[in-house]
Amino acid sequence: MNSPGVVVPRSQGEEVRLDLVASGLFRPDLEILHEGENLVLPIDAHAGDVPPSWGTVVVRDFRPVARRGASNYRDLLSWPESEKDALPRSFDVVGEIVLIRLPPELRDRKNQVGGALLRFVPGARLVGLDLGVHGPERRRSVERIAGDGTWRTRHRENGLEFEVDVERAYFSPRLAREHARFAEAVRPGDRVYDLCCGVGPFALAVARSGRAREVTAVDANPAAIDLLQASLTRARLERRVRVVHERLETFLPTAEPVERVVINLPHEGIKYLPSVARTVASGGGLYYYEVVSRTDFAGRGSALVKLLTAIGTFSVAAQRVVHPYSPTADLVAFEFGRTG
Ligand SMILES: C[S@@+](CC[C@H](N)C(=O)[O-])C[C@H]1O[C@@H](n2cnc3c(N)ncnc32)[C@H](O)[C@@H]1O
Repeated sequence: MNSPGVVVPRSQGEEVRLDLVASGLFRPDLEILHEGENLVLPIDAHAGDVPPSWGTVVVRDFRPVARRGASNYRDLLSWPESEKDALPRSFDVVGEIVLIRLPPELRDRKNQVGGALLRFVPGARLVGLDLGVHGPERRRSVERIAGDGTWRTRHRENGLEFEVDVERAYFSPRLAREHARFAEAVRPGDRVYDLCCGVGPFALAVARSGRAREVTAVDANPAAIDLLQASLTRARLERRVRVVHERLETFLPTAEPVERVVINLPHEGIKYLPSVARTVASGGGLYYYEVVSRTDFAGRGSALVKLLTAIGTFSVAAQRVVHPYSPTADLVAFEFGRTG
């Protein structure tokens, strides 16, 4: 079957495959092609949807993965094949909750889609139409389209289980690898700030590793703070994280510098970046996330370093696309090191 695919060197195949899976672009129903030293990973996307740094998009003839039963929730809908074209191939699973975005033309058939997902996803209890995140607390608007119960659930990630309320506090299962990466960057004895911590996936991952001397997690949303406290108590990690219900505006001015800082507030983080950078000790590091237009990607890291020269000496230790955000922009992770 003809489909677009991304050409990647074998050595980067698994890395890019995981990025594509997390972004909902990978097609698990087609087999990966081997072409000499390269792999071609089948995708449900067009060239413009794939960040150029992940590889070149081509069209190839892929073999379907042999499976028994439905290989996709779309197989459970008895619609004519042509009407299924508008159905998204990807959806998110947060604990027992499935979230899907639907184009406007499918909204009147949302309950059928919800029913198919409820049957398809093992362990699903509730299916929500994802209407996006809004407001300063980045809360998600959701509408129940199948199943029952509340929006509160327990999500498993990187060997941890934590409390999430899909409607009351921000959480994205697409950032699991970033949470793990940050925790891995923490060295024994580091002090850590998780700024804008939400339900605390970064802080929890760091606490579990046990390497940090001290972890402080800060957020303005009281619901997020309650959920983080509940997760820490369940995991018996409450003594390893200081949870602070406060706005950055009041926390940052008196914050002592620490060795590792993370802030994931992609649209507004730039507002706080200089005062956040002040809390990074010399020899320490900062993880910072931003939505960056593809045309600005190459130069954005050095532009941010320049912006920080008034605060100290920073350099870009790494810069990578986390997932596509729109046809022209991506969510990008920046790792800055401070040397002075
Ligand atoms: C995109 S979410 C990130 C949550 C978490 N770090 C994660 O990766 O799942 C941004 C968080 O920033 C918090 N926030 C926004 N503005 C804030 C501010 N001025 N002070 C403190 N927290 C803020 C919101 O409540 C929200 O939980």
